[in-house]
Amino acid sequence: MDNKQHIISAELQRWYTTYKRDLPWRSTRDPYIIWVSEVVLQQTRVAQGLAYFNRFVERFPKVHDLAAARQEEVLKLWQGLGYYSRARNMHTAAQQVMEQLNGVFPHEYKTLLQLKGVGEYTAAAVASISANAPVAVVDGNVDRVISRLFCMEEPVNSTSGKKKVKQLAESILDKHHAGNHNQAVMELGALICTPKNPDCTACPLERFCQSRAENRALDFPVKQKKVKQRKRFFQYFFVQAQGQVFLGKRPPGDIWEGLYQLVLLETDKKPDAGTALMEFNRTFNLSPDEYTLLSAEKEYKHVLSHQVIFATFYALQLDADRPLEGHGYEKFQ
Ligand code: ADE
Repeated sequence: MDNKQHIISAELQRWYTTYKRDLPWRSTRDPYIIWVSEVVLQQTRVAQGLAYFNRFVERFPKVHDLAAARQEEVLKLWQGLGYYSRARNMHTAAQQVMEQLNGVFPHEYKTLLQLKGVGEYTAAAVASISANAPVAVVDGNVDRVISRLFCMEEPVNSTSGKKKVKQLAESILDKHHAGNHNQAVMELGALICTPKNPDCTACPLERFCQSRAENRALDFPVKQKKVKQRKRFFQYFFVQAQGQVFLGKRPPGDIWEGLYQLVLLETDKKPDAGTALMEFNRTFNLSPDEYTLLSAEKEYKHVLSHQVIFATFYALQLDADRPLEGHGYEKFQ
């Protein structure tokens, strides 16, 4: 780190000390608690994540509490955050810590990487924040700060671009205060160097920022076009009978694995309501006079990283008390 890089980090950390948000995980060095906060924050913004974090650590204050819980309960606390494999991985990681690490949650970068679901970002964040391990974190905020600071023309999501961001992030890292430094970069990205309206005049790095000098902050980060998203068409049936509703578990190997859902028919394109209901009748061996259609609702579009779900909901009431045969659906109160 030469002198200029040193000043950059010093300015950053000075700014951070004054302006950082007062967040519960910032008053601990416990790697378990920091890990929980980092996984929650990968999922959502601070404003929404805070409540999830608080509930999670209140219920599971120590890693052994999480390891001993039932998976259903862990998922319940995660409900609404999405990407449930993260919660399942956390549960598995906690059990790994109990079984392989004598119940002591690690703070070393390399050990952290061995835990289920812990990638480079999480390992770097936890190791640096809990133990000042000299590794630079890279997340979306860091991509933005670094690519603007250095006018990086390579796409930050290309293989070479990722390497370059990491290398530049390491070049300004204050190795003696890595935890504070890393959080300062992320905080700057969250509060000042924002995607659409960076507040450059309030930025402690304004005089070092190449894109500011060229008035091109909004040109960065450069991004490569993403993979094409798969379109899926879900027809959901809210089937009631005697005051109960039919639900089934989603199968392994697909999104939302193991979570309960309404009766689902997946189709390869969007059917009209008549076709969807005919398919429903055929699948469950029903005739239209065995139920009352309560409503056919509008379509919802739900965008995930690799797929777009077009879901249409139908509500109906079975007249006879009969099961939906096969397909693993059960009635719930
Ligand atoms: N975003 C994710 N983790 C963060 C942290 N520790 N500080 C600031 N922003 C973050």
